[in-house]
Amino acid sequence: MEPRFRRLLPEPGEIDAGGLLASLRTELPASTDRPYTIANFVVSADGRAAFRGRSGPLGDDGDRALFHALREQADAVLAGTGTLRTERYGRLIRDAERRARRTAAGLEAEPLAAVISRSGTRIPLEIPLFAEPAARILLFSPTEPELAGVRAGVQFARTDPARAHPLRDVLRALRLEHDVRLLLCEGGPTLFAALLRERLLDDLFLTIVPKLAGGDSGPALTGAGPPLSELAQLRIVWLLARRDSLYVRYGLLQT
Ligand SMILES: NC(=O)c1ccc[n+]([C@@H]2O[C@H](COP(=O)([O-])OP(=O)(O)OC[C@H]3O[C@@H](n4cnc5c(N)ncnc54)[C@H](OP(=O)(O)O)[C@@H]3O)[C@@H](O)[C@H]2O)c1
Repeated sequence: MEPRFRRLLPEPGEIDAGGLLASLRTELPASTDRPYTIANFVVSADGRAAFRGRSGPLGDDGDRALFHALREQADAVLAGTGTLRTERYGRLIRDAERRARRTAAGLEAEPLAAVISRSGTRIPLEIPLFAEPAARILLFSPTEPELAGVRAGVQFARTDPARAHPLRDVLRALRLEHDVRLLLCEGGPTLFAALLRERLLDDLFLTIVPKLAGGDSGPALTGAGPPLSELAQLRIVWLLARRDSLYVRYGLLQT
């Protein structure tokens, strides 16, 4: 049975992940030059995005339910090579019922997997995603890797690291060339921070679990790079609770 959440804001109630996200796509703003972009993370109460290198130990069943429900809605899932490697990404939608619901709603059965690399040399071609014939991967990288042995469908999009706003270019290509209206960024912290720096994020879905990771057990949510030039301001769209975890959907205030 799907986990149920206690909604604290905006109005009290009880809801599951499917119900929460049922109107997500219909509420998307009309076509722009980039997709509506959301990020989804689980963090410890001390703000760590991993424990001993993996996010799995942080998660709970509510987090997993939201994770899969968000994938079900997305046209594309964006991730950096660090996340793909450590989390060993495979097929994005494993549940046949979810795939059937997507096709009934007029979506591709699998979201596009948008993979981004700055170096072009650290793409983890050995992970299950690249061996999955049903996967559709769009690889943004400055150089094209040798794809011998890869069974997934891979399209290559060359990036130019010298551009002033490289991620804006990536998102523009996703919207205009691949018809991506809803983009789900699954991280990791390095990519998330870059999206924030270029002011490309619309919503942050954050699960805060009742656990403390401590010290260097994993990166902070926004990674280890320089701070933003100014604080990113958030507003709460909803706040849910389940057991001792909190689930917040924040909207980014675009200034
Ligand atoms: N708690 C959570 O919800 C959650 C979610 C995701 C990940 N994580 C954790 O986060 C850790 C990985 O962190 P990470 O920061 O290394 O992940 P990451 O952002 O996925 O990977 C970093 C790599 O992605 C590429 N990249 C990132 N931003 C880019 C940009 N703006 N332009 C071009 N390429 C870009 C670069 O690839 P190249 O090296 O190929 O140049 C970069 O080295 C893992 O421990 C993972 O478990 C946690």
